Amino acid sequence: MTLPMVVRDDTLPAKVTIYEVGPRDGLQNESAIVPLEAKAEFITRLITAGLPIVEATSFVHPKWVPQLADAAELVAQLPLDGPTPLPVLVPNARGLDRALEAGCTHIAIFGSATETFAQKNLNSTLDDQFAMFEPVVARARAAGLDVRAYVSMCFGDPWEGAVPVEQVVATGSRLLDLGASQLSLGDTIGVGTAAHVGALIDGFGAAGIGVDRLAMHFHDTYGQALANAYAALRKGITTFDASAGGLGGCPYAESATGNLATEDLVWMLTGLGIEHGVDLPALVETSVWMAGVLGRESPSAVVRALG
Ligand code: HMG
Ligand code: MG
Repeated sequence: MTLPMVVRDDTLPAKVTIYEVGPRDGLQNESAIVPLEAKAEFITRLITAGLPIVEATSFVHPKWVPQLADAAELVAQLPLDGPTPLPVLVPNARGLDRALEAGCTHIAIFGSATETFAQKNLNSTLDDQFAMFEPVVARARAAGLDVRAYVSMCFGDPWEGAVPVEQVVATGSRLLDLGASQLSLGDTIGVGTAAHVGALIDGFGAAGIGVDRLAMHFHDTYGQALANAYAALRKGITTFDASAGGLGGCPYAESATGNLATEDLVWMLTGLGIEHGVDLPALVETSVWMAGVLGRESPSAVVRALG
């Protein structure tokens, strides 16, 4: 398989962790229900391809995200005690009960930087979301679980327009203060551009939150995801969310399309000589197989070039 020539830039991080979200963010927006066996196989193949962490599903209300209503049955088929963490999204106490019952060891809460999206995605106000998450994080941590926090609409919101950096930093800081180990900054609708990414990371830095506690979560609606990832790399970010084959989108965010494709990210990191641990041919094969399951071609340029 063709691979890029490696030209190392020593000003960039030597190693990056790819946080794979394909089975969760990638599939949550699919209207036709993907069979449980295909979801389990997708996750197994991603683990085999070397993804160091794979977000598996969500314990949200099944009516809100019907595609992931089978979360408990799916998780029952997964190697939860294996070396690859398999986090699940949890919005509230009921979700945590279900995740604990299923034996999950890693969860992720997901907050909103804007009022409108908090209401549309969580049926909560911006302020009330913290009251919903606080007991979830406390109880999860007391049970020994790792808790990640997402903040959505970090760059723009389809209803409210541009979102000020200070508003995102304020929301993200409150989520971290609850006890989350990492904050993933979501460009839910993909409107961010490179200098904005730098400004946001700098904004967190000025608030005392360094790059070691941040991850970036880019959607590729306007084709900016990879450029934005490069901008974040230049700022020293070392955790990137990505979705195999570029699947994805949020059902409650108008104009949200696929995530940054894991293959596109892996291609760039490989060329930059940055260690990522992912077997690109095995990953491409997985995405080609999943495109067959979903009945349409992958939007990833790298999958289309290599698949
Ligand atoms: P609600 O309707 O306000 O819930 O939904 P409620 O607390 O009023 O409860 C109503 C009923 O739902 C009760 O049942 C609860 O037990 C049940 P009843 O007593 O009437 O029989 N219920 C649940 N059942 C199963 N699992 C649960 C659960 N919670 C309550 N967890 C809620 C509030 C938060 C649950 C709802 O708004 C929800 O599920 N939202 C999730 C939406 C979602 O998953 N969005 C996509 C993920 S976020 C994303 O994609 C962005 C991200 O990728 C980053 C980025 O791109 O920016 C992460
Ligand atoms: Mg997302």
